[in-house]
Amino acid sequence: MADKDGLKVAKDYHIDEDFGNQKAFHVKGCNNLDWGMKKHLSNIFDPKSGNTVMFAFDHGYFMGSTAGLERLDLVVPKLFPAVDVLMGTRGAIRSCIPPNCGKSIALRVSSGSSMLNDDLSHEVIAVDMEDSIRMNADCVAVQTFIGADGQLSSIDNLSRTINAANRYSVPVLGVVAVGKDMERTDRFFKLATRIIAEMGASIIKTYYCDNFEEVVAACPVPIVVAGGKKLPEEEALTLAYRSIQGGAKGLDMGRNIFQSEHSLEMAFAIRKIVHEGFTDKEALEFYKDSIGGR
Ligand code: 5RP
Repeated sequence: MADKDGLKVAKDYHIDEDFGNQKAFHVKGCNNLDWGMKKHLSNIFDPKSGNTVMFAFDHGYFMGSTAGLERLDLVVPKLFPAVDVLMGTRGAIRSCIPPNCGKSIALRVSSGSSMLNDDLSHEVIAVDMEDSIRMNADCVAVQTFIGADGQLSSIDNLSRTINAANRYSVPVLGVVAVGKDMERTDRFFKLATRIIAEMGASIIKTYYCDNFEEVVAACPVPIVVAGGKKLPEEEALTLAYRSIQGGAKGLDMGRNIFQSEHSLEMAFAIRKIVHEGFTDKEALEFYKDSIGGR
């Protein structure tokens, strides 16, 4: 293993150069994968826009019922027209989502924390590959805590899931966890996204940051951006716009949709940015018009 002495800081990201191995398949870094993987990835990333709108409602796996998700059975189906992918736990999906929803599934498979403990970085793999396949998951999501106390175990969770998923051509979504002590800097996100991609994840979920283009350029597979805590709609739309402009291939928003007063209209506004090239200003106008200027 290369030692840490004399490490030179990476700086040449060639952000204006397209990805070298894109070839015919529309998902970055996945051209060499087999048919089954490509089918799952095509269910997630629209072949026309190349992007995705994921709706995240897996918060309950460690937060219990959170504001806006008190009734999964009522909240989630309402959003079906505006989103491409449902990101949830097997319990939420099996109990509250009709199987004829026609949506792609990103299945949360790591677990082990709760809001009652300080250190959330020690998780296990709670859902095995057999049940993920039963759920017809288009990808399985594993939280990865780079730099935290649970780093080794979370990378072990990620790697073992990728090993099992590869046997059945199921993509893995590596989720960059930002623990309480972690810095939301491009330096951290470049490290975390690259480690997860090098472990073999096909999709990375992370957060927007300064120099985001460099984070994207250094990551050989597609990045989707988590929304994070609830923002005013205008700011959330700007976050979505900057993420897409910076090279993200989609958004995986939860609170900025389900905690919005007009969650369906907000999801449609995000969709305009992700799939129709709207700017944040145009999407905000669309949102305001769709709620009658209220
Ligand atoms: C919760 C998650 C969520 O999927 C992710 O954070 C996106 O949700 P939000 O936009 O509310 O942050 O990983 O543990």
